[in-house]
Amino acid sequence: MRHEFFSSNIICCIVLRPELGEKYFKPFPQGLRPGKSRALIAGTKAPTPEQPEYYRKLPRRFSELRRNTTRRALDSFPNLAVYVTNSAHGFFTRHALTKPKILSTRPLFPAARAVLDRNFEVDYWTPAERITREELLKRVADKDGLVCLLTEKVDEELLARAPKLRIAATVSVGYDNIDVAACTRHKVAATNTPGVLDDTTADFAWTLLMAIARRLLEGDAWMRSGTWPGWDLDQLVGGDVWGKTLGVLGFGRIGRGVARRASGFNMRVLYSDAVRAPEDVERELHAEFVDRDRLFRESDFISLHVPLLPDTRHLISRENLEKMKRTAFLVNTSRGPVVDEAALAEALENKKIAGAALDVYEHEPLVNPALLGRRDVILTPHIASASLDTRTKMAVMAAENVVALFEGRRPPNALNADALGLK
Ligand SMILES: NC(=O)c1ccc[n+]([C@@H]2O[C@H](COP(=O)([O-])OP(=O)(O)OC[C@H]3O[C@@H](n4cnc5c(N)ncnc54)[C@H](O)[C@@H]3O)[C@@H](O)[C@H]2O)c1
Repeated sequence: MRHEFFSSNIICCIVLRPELGEKYFKPFPQGLRPGKSRALIAGTKAPTPEQPEYYRKLPRRFSELRRNTTRRALDSFPNLAVYVTNSAHGFFTRHALTKPKILSTRPLFPAARAVLDRNFEVDYWTPAERITREELLKRVADKDGLVCLLTEKVDEELLARAPKLRIAATVSVGYDNIDVAACTRHKVAATNTPGVLDDTTADFAWTLLMAIARRLLEGDAWMRSGTWPGWDLDQLVGGDVWGKTLGVLGFGRIGRGVARRASGFNMRVLYSDAVRAPEDVERELHAEFVDRDRLFRESDFISLHVPLLPDTRHLISRENLEKMKRTAFLVNTSRGPVVDEAALAEALENKKIAGAALDVYEHEPLVNPALLGRRDVILTPHIASASLDTRTKMAVMAAENVVALFEGRRPPNALNADALGLK
C-alpha cells in the first residue's frame, strides 16, 4: 500500500467532516490538517502527459466536491492514491498510506485469518491463556481496528486508550461486551455476527433440553462408575419432552429456531418477547404470544434467548422461579446474568423446579458452587455455537466487517451504522 501511494502521480485527499477527519488524517502527508474541508491535489512525480487532464477533472474546492463528486467519479482516476471522505457523501478511503493495523485477540480460524491478512497488518494474540486487560489496552493503543471475543470488554477506558481505533468487531452475536454508545461517541463502528449461529445454537439448546429432561448425564456417570446393577422399572425416570409445553423467552433468531425444533416433538409453544412476532411466523411455528407470567406458569420447559440488557439481567429471579411448575426445566443458552444463580440453586434445593441446563454463567468462568454438586443441573462451558463450521463463519464475518469499513463500505453488521452516518 505504501508503495502504491508513493508511486502514484496524484494524491487527492478530501476530508469532508472535521469530526471524522482526525482518524483518517493521521497517516497523511505533512501539510494536511484535519478539520479543513478541502480537496488537495499534489504530484509526487514529474507530470505525465495525462496529468493535466487529471488536474482539470479533479475537484479542487470543497464546493465543487459537494456538487460534482461521486465515488464513481473518483474511481475513474486510476492514479488517485488516496481519497478520504465521509459517509454523508457516499464514499470513503480508497487507499490508505499504510495497511491499517488490527489487533485480533485470538488467532481465529485460517479462513478468517486469510481475510484479515490480505488487507491488514494484524497482531494476533496467540498464547493459550486469554489476553489480560492490561495487555489488551497496551496492544490496542496504536491499532486502527480490533477483532475481539465476548470475553473482552470494549468500554470507555479502552476506547480512550485507542485514539486511532475505527472498528471493534466482536466474534459473537451477543454484544453485551461492547459499550455501543461509547463506541459511537468515539466514532468507532461496532459489529457483531448475527444469523450464522442460529441453528447451531438452537441445536445445542435442544440438546440441553433433552439431556436434562431424560437425565442423560446421570445415566452416563452411573455407567462409567461401574455400579449399574442392570435394568429396573424406576431407574432415572425423567420428564417427557414429547407433547409438553415449551416456553421461549426471547423470540428472535435463536428462540424461533428452538420453537421450530419443538414442532417435531408435538409440543405446544408459548413465547414472550418485548416485540410480538409477525402473524405468519406465529402460524408457521405454532407459537402463541403470552405474557411472561403465563409463560412461567404454564411451561414444562423454559428456554432463554434474550440478549443481556439491563432489563433482562436476573430475569430468572427468585420471584419468577416461584411461578414455575415444580416439574419444569430451565435451559439457558443466552447470557449467564439473565439467571440469578443463587436463586436458581435455592429453587432447585427446595424442589421448586425439576432441573436446569446451563451453558452460560453469571460470573464466567466461575459457576456458583451451590450448582456444582447437583445432579439436577447440567453445566456446559459456553459452547452453544461451538461447531467448527459455525465458529469459522463467525470469525470470517467479523473479519469481513472490518474489511468493509476500511474499503469504505458500511460494515454489514454494524450496530451503530446510523448513529455514525455510515452509508
Ligand atoms: N451460548 C452461546 O454460545 C450463545 C450463542 C449465540 C447467542 N447467544 C445469546 O443469545 C442471544 C439471542 O441471540 P439472537 O441471535 O436470537 O438475538 P435476537 O436479537 O435475534 O433475539 C433476541 C430477542 O430477544 C427479545 N428481547 C429483547 N429484550 C427483551 C426483553 N426485555 N424481554 C423479552 N424479550 C426481549 C428481542 O425482541 C428479540 O426478539 C444473544 O444476545 C446472545 O447473548 C448465546
